[in-house]
Amino acid sequence: MHIVHISVEMAPIAKVGGLADVVTSLSRAVQDLNHNVDIILPKYDCLNLSNVKDFGFHKSYSWGGTEIKIWFGKVEGLSVYFLEPQNGLFWKGCIYGCNNDGERFGFFCHAALEFLLQSGSHPDVIHCHDWSSAPVAWLFKDEYMHYGLSKARIVFTIHNLEFGAQLIGKAMAYADKATTVSPTYSREVAGNPVIAPHLYKFHGILNGIDPDMWDPFNDKFLPVSYTWENVVEGKKAAKEALQQKIGLKRADVPLVGIITRLTHQKGIHLIKHAIWRALDRGSQVVLLGSAPDPRIQNDFVNLASQLHSTHNEQARLCLTYDEPLSHLIYAGSDFILVPSIFEPCGLTQLTAMRYGSIPIVRKTGGLYDTVFDVEHDKERAQSQGLQPNGFNFEGADAAGVDYAVNRAISAWYDSREWFNSLCKVVMEQDWSWNRPALDYLELYHAARK
Ligand code: ADP
Ligand code: GLC
Repeated sequence: MHIVHISVEMAPIAKVGGLADVVTSLSRAVQDLNHNVDIILPKYDCLNLSNVKDFGFHKSYSWGGTEIKIWFGKVEGLSVYFLEPQNGLFWKGCIYGCNNDGERFGFFCHAALEFLLQSGSHPDVIHCHDWSSAPVAWLFKDEYMHYGLSKARIVFTIHNLEFGAQLIGKAMAYADKATTVSPTYSREVAGNPVIAPHLYKFHGILNGIDPDMWDPFNDKFLPVSYTWENVVEGKKAAKEALQQKIGLKRADVPLVGIITRLTHQKGIHLIKHAIWRALDRGSQVVLLGSAPDPRIQNDFVNLASQLHSTHNEQARLCLTYDEPLSHLIYAGSDFILVPSIFEPCGLTQLTAMRYGSIPIVRKTGGLYDTVFDVEHDKERAQSQGLQPNGFNFEGADAAGVDYAVNRAISAWYDSREWFNSLCKVVMEQDWSWNRPALDYLELYHAARK
């Protein structure tokens, strides 16, 4: 099958959040199953081109009152076509954040379909994502389907219904099949007016992570390679390197890591509360987070300076986006905290487990589907053929956070032997695309019937 993703993010060259990871890792998994996958991406001026192989000019065409240059390159083994309209829509130094993002991405979607048409391409499936490539669905059905691309079917994935619900609703109406990124989130949003009329073609398919891009045995940012067999030594070395790098005391105490966009969705008040609670219970804390909203950024700058005076050797807030540091935190932490208010899937808890860190999460969306509490979820885990793998809590309040954080840190102090065996358990679980990629292929086939 020939699948074309039209997307405005792609890891690692144009990443803002998990959407970027999913476009790359799902495509790689499907390509590994012997299908032909292409990706069409805007050519932002801020692209990280050092990660693009064989990059070069492909061709150009005129459309929408401007010349559009197409560039081609290989990213993580995937064929990527970069669209560069000469009207400068993507020469803004950023991916999102311009006051005309709707117009920029609308233009991109239209130009991408035009490119497919003009290059005589006949994809079986065109897969678009979130509000930003939602227009592909109706542009295709209203126009391009009647020209040369008639064979294609449209699959639309909702990564987050919080943004652009109107556009998402329009794409839902036009897509042949639609998905969201976990079964529980699909149920949580089922009653939403933009989803409800389309439930018959809407499916929750859990995201995976790319086991090669996230691999503690082969990770250039870690001091020691490890698998589940030497997880204790590997994580000890990573913890020491992390403590040294960010200036924490080099001590054998539990370390709670948080890696996140700092937005309402991620549970800002719960994160703040958890930091103090974990410190009270004798843990160290490292937060790696970037806040698009300057008020939230300020809030955390203030918290950082408060922690600097009270807990300088035990807590560090790194208020930036830093891919290499994220790897060291996944490996060097004992726990990764994800206290989201809502979470369509969440990739950080999956990556944490790949690196032998124990997730502490709020029971919502994909966090509920992937984290099974060591005390309360034995049966639920068993029903998925899994062993319990973390700590979770219900309420979006201080009591909820306390309940999970207290139990997690006590468990670390109570028995290191038990804790180390839990690290092995989580590392052995398979959160890759092995299974979900097959679900997508089944969906692609179903879309074509
Ligand atoms: P979302 O897409 O809602 O932000 P996900 O959990 O799906 O949440 O994906 C977040 C991705 O972004 C993960 O790969 C995570 O490691 C990465 N990430 C988040 N914040 C940072 C940061 N400050 N620095 C580096 N990576 C980050
Ligand atoms: C969105 C969601 C996140 C999900 C990611 C990838 O950004 O917030 O939960 O994991 O998309 O699908």
